[in-house]
Amino acid sequence: MNDKTFLMIPGPTPVPERVLLDMAKAPIPHRSAEFSKIFDEVNEDLKWIFQTKNDVFIFASSGTGAMDAALSNLINPGDKVLSLVIGNFGERWAKIAESYGAIVERLTVPYGEVISPDALKKRLDEDINNEIKIVTLTQSETSTGAVNDVKKLCKIIRNHGAISVVDGVTSVGAMDIKPDEWGIDVLVSGSQKGFMIPPGLAFLTASERAFEVHRQCKYPGFYFSWSSYKKSLAQHTTPYTPAINLIVALHTALKMLRAEGLENILARHKSNAMLLRKSLREMGLKLFVEDDEKASYAVTSVYPPEGISVADIRKILKDDYDIIVANGQNDLKDKIFRIGTLGYISERDILMLVSALKSTIQRLN
Ligand SMILES: Cc1ncc(COP(=O)(O)O)c(C=O)c1O
Repeated sequence: MNDKTFLMIPGPTPVPERVLLDMAKAPIPHRSAEFSKIFDEVNEDLKWIFQTKNDVFIFASSGTGAMDAALSNLINPGDKVLSLVIGNFGERWAKIAESYGAIVERLTVPYGEVISPDALKKRLDEDINNEIKIVTLTQSETSTGAVNDVKKLCKIIRNHGAISVVDGVTSVGAMDIKPDEWGIDVLVSGSQKGFMIPPGLAFLTASERAFEVHRQCKYPGFYFSWSSYKKSLAQHTTPYTPAINLIVALHTALKMLRAEGLENILARHKSNAMLLRKSLREMGLKLFVEDDEKASYAVTSVYPPEGISVADIRKILKDDYDIIVANGQNDLKDKIFRIGTLGYISERDILMLVSALKSTIQRLN
């Protein structure tokens, strides 16, 4: 049946009809009081969902644009960066840092595991001359479904004195993250994840400490320069033409999220993920991240049953049930599949996926 496709991938995520209809309106001019009013409200609502008093900048890019903007605005060539790598997106931080001339050291664990606070503390304690300037990390590692304890890790980083740069692309609006309270210096996210709108916007918030480092950055770039965005934000606008229709969509989506309330949103993500994990275990399936305490509420990675391929599961789910789940990435391709429970997903959607998956597996057996 046409038009029934349902995304249960970790982004892009389903978009509510109300948001789609608002996006379909003709663009309004961005240098206008009408746009500035919407933009101001969006900025207030972004601070609410990011749980920060600081500005949240909006870039016309995918999430990786905000990751790039995080490091281009901080790094001078030769700076030392420690990248905590628990999957592909943690590795992306390291590659971006290298592209700006940083000397990057990786603290790595086998994929599916998370960084131990003790291991991080040990490494930073060894850095007696405070050579490490920036530590990058990921909260919800979408390639594996594991989640770092950002609160503990960022406390250790703050005690050392380095700037913490956190990927919250699949966690802001899905899992608790409090930059001001937890001492996170830079936090980024992307629109096609917990924000219930299509891809195309990325978000970044930075602490005053991070801004101090930014002011010492010799080549912060042009399009993504934090200083330009900060200056424009104070004038209720953006430095360059914004993605107007996406900002209008975000305005509507954030109003919906505010009406639901942050506690309820976070509780919904947790209970949906836990229901899914319980149901998968009851079906005899093995989870890639076994420990519920280390599992993301945005994405769950699952091994296929013995003798059944990831490709066949995904094909039947798509062709016969109109549900899309994601393959594993890189080395995990065809070894696991990933189910997104992020954004505009309700308990009904989880039950629907579980029963579709049950009959898919029965059929393949
Ligand atoms: C944790 C994480 N970080 C970064 C990204 C990159 O975002 P984008 O694909 O929007 O550039 C993604 C996208 O899936 C992600 O899940």
